[in-house]
Amino acid sequence: MRRFAYCKVVLATSLVWVMLDMFILLYFSECNKCDDKKERGLPGRDVVDGLSRPRDGPGEGGKPVVIPKENQEKMKEMFKINQFNLMASEMIALNRSLPDVRLEGCKNKLYPDNLPRTSVVIVFHNEAWSTLLRTVHSVIDRSPHTLLEEIVLVDDASERDFLKRPLEQYVRKLEVPVRVVRMEQRSGLIRARLKGASISTGGCQVITFLDAHCECTTGWLEPLLARIKQDKKTVVCPIIDVISDDTFEYMAGSDMTYGGFNWKLNFRWYPVPQREMDRRKGDRTLPVRTPTMAGGLFSIDRDYFQEIGTYDAGMDIWGGENLEISFRIWQCGGTLEIVTCSHVGHVFRKATPYTFPGGTGQIINKNNRRLAEVWMDEFKNFFYIISPGVTKVDYGDISTRSALRQKLQCKPFSWYLENVYPDSQIPRHYYSLGEIRNVETNQCLDNMARKENEKVGIFNCHGMGGNQQVFSYTANKEIRTDDLCLDVSKLNGPVMMLKCHHLKGNQLWEYDPVKLTLVHVNSNQCLDKASEEDSQVPSVRDCTHSRSQQWLLRNVTLPEVF
Ligand SMILES: *[C@@H]1O[C@H](CO)[C@@H](O)[C@H](O)[C@H]1NC(C)=O
Ligand SMILES: *[C@@H]1O[C@H](CO)[C@@H](O)[C@H](O)[C@H]1NC(C)=O
Repeated sequence: MRRFAYCKVVLATSLVWVMLDMFILLYFSECNKCDDKKERGLPGRDVVDGLSRPRDGPGEGGKPVVIPKENQEKMKEMFKINQFNLMASEMIALNRSLPDVRLEGCKNKLYPDNLPRTSVVIVFHNEAWSTLLRTVHSVIDRSPHTLLEEIVLVDDASERDFLKRPLEQYVRKLEVPVRVVRMEQRSGLIRARLKGASISTGGCQVITFLDAHCECTTGWLEPLLARIKQDKKTVVCPIIDVISDDTFEYMAGSDMTYGGFNWKLNFRWYPVPQREMDRRKGDRTLPVRTPTMAGGLFSIDRDYFQEIGTYDAGMDIWGGENLEISFRIWQCGGTLEIVTCSHVGHVFRKATPYTFPGGTGQIINKNNRRLAEVWMDEFKNFFYIISPGVTKVDYGDISTRSALRQKLQCKPFSWYLENVYPDSQIPRHYYSLGEIRNVETNQCLDNMARKENEKVGIFNCHGMGGNQQVFSYTANKEIRTDDLCLDVSKLNGPVMMLKCHHLKGNQLWEYDPVKLTLVHVNSNQCLDKASEEDSQVPSVRDCTHSRSQQWLLRNVTLPEVF
């Protein structure tokens, strides 16, 4: 039963607690393997772990739940409550079995006996009973109890009755201590997590944060704790598998993607670069160093969490905190890893079911400004230039965070770009960041709505920033806006915006600051203001040194833009 041999899925998600407005690029590659194995009835961990033994019942083995036709209307109604298929979730056992999606090389790894113990902190707000408790059960059932100190459930002011006394009564019967603590008022992820961390027993050395709609798989915990035991300054994330919001099917996430971000400071998954494969000598079971974390799921040494300043308490609700802690870890001497032998599933939603006091947009802008101001040095300009208006947002007082950066003697953002994230969308070295102006017409290159695979235009310069007339000519000789690059694929062809590929080729441009020409190296032609067919479509032509082939590249200064 091959569901898919190798499928590539792009999920546009607006992931509630953790990763707002984020694009997930996942290559589901392992899921077919486990199916095969089951059919052939091979022994292995499946048998050892009774929970992984396929049982009958909806969703067992991570299979999708199909809702019969007659219930579709009700299903749609229920979907709205949590923005996932609540009916499906309620049909699935709280202790359902899951496939073992790990790489083969992970299954027989041995870990030291004396790993540090962890508290698991789970923040929830109006979570569904079934997803919350499936998270709890999967932690209890698939973690060695010698390593699990307790589970702390932090209720961020939920309004649902079943999350009050019924929840407390239910968790009292579980084999692992589970505590429910309540925020007095709606506080958001950041503050609720801080509360959970502060309340968890001091006896255990590690804090593990999970979202409230997760499922942990066999062997998820040991490899995380083993890394922290080796080096307490290592902060570790599991591979985040995808639990379908429609069917609750369990789909393995890829070990070949890692966390990055774009100019707008949105978290994004990108392919693990070759240098990271080389560093691990091709062994995919070794942890991947990741520039950023998605935010929802990670383990950290309790003392180290304090030492590097937990979270920025000046941030509201959520958004940006995952990049903030990522930059901070790296710049201040820590390491951030995805432990590829650890898999935890997460329900990715397409929309948030929650509202926030004051709206989410401004909160995220404020949080992003704080992280840009404290951690990004001059590279914050990439964020500001592409997000006009954001500089009007008040970001409050950052003096304590700046003092923290001082105290910990953290490295500059340029160091991070150079050493941790050289394949970043933000170039470490660049010639210009601003408009590209044609000498003859005095008009500017304009990528219109910045859509991929579309032709670039030329319009009157507006000097407004945003993503239309802002380009960076980088030291790698790309002309890029965020993750899209100017690209020409045929002689005399129009200029397009395509995903930057770092392979030079059709995206390599040579600027001559004296002649003011932009030579497309592959075709040896010059960027000209317009093509023959269309006066609004810049294209490459044989170089004539006419004024229509001369371009001014400059650095826009921020006050101009705002
Ligand atoms: C799963 O939970 C059900 C209901 O509590 C219980 O009867 C069953 O024994 C559990 N299964 C396993 C494998 O633990
Ligand atoms: C633009 O700014 C960058 C970064 O500060 C600098 O390296 C570059 O020389 C500047 N370019 C111009 C044309 O002034």
